[in-house]
Amino acid sequence: MSASENSDVAGEEACTISVTEDGPIKVEGDWRLLTRGDSAAVVAGDRPRGTVWLCRCGHSAKKPFCDGTHKKEGFSAEGI
Ligand code: FES
Repeated sequence: MSASENSDVAGEEACTISVTEDGPIKVEGDWRLLTRGDSAAVVAGDRPRGTVWLCRCGHSAKKPFCDGTHKKEGFSAEGI
């Protein structure tokens, strides 16, 4: 899906996603997080739109957000 298609679907600007080496997924831009089974719901908690880090190691106590535990757990994976 192109950035313009994404904007048409969501009615918002696209965001940028980066997969860091040995760490979380960085999401920058105007993002929304949808709940399972309810595509209309927005779950942002107290986090403002902008940059957010998503856990990919599976050890965060604040999933889906990274809480830094990947460092303690020695998570290792290539960045993309
Ligand atoms: S990637 Fe940071 S806690 Fe999982």
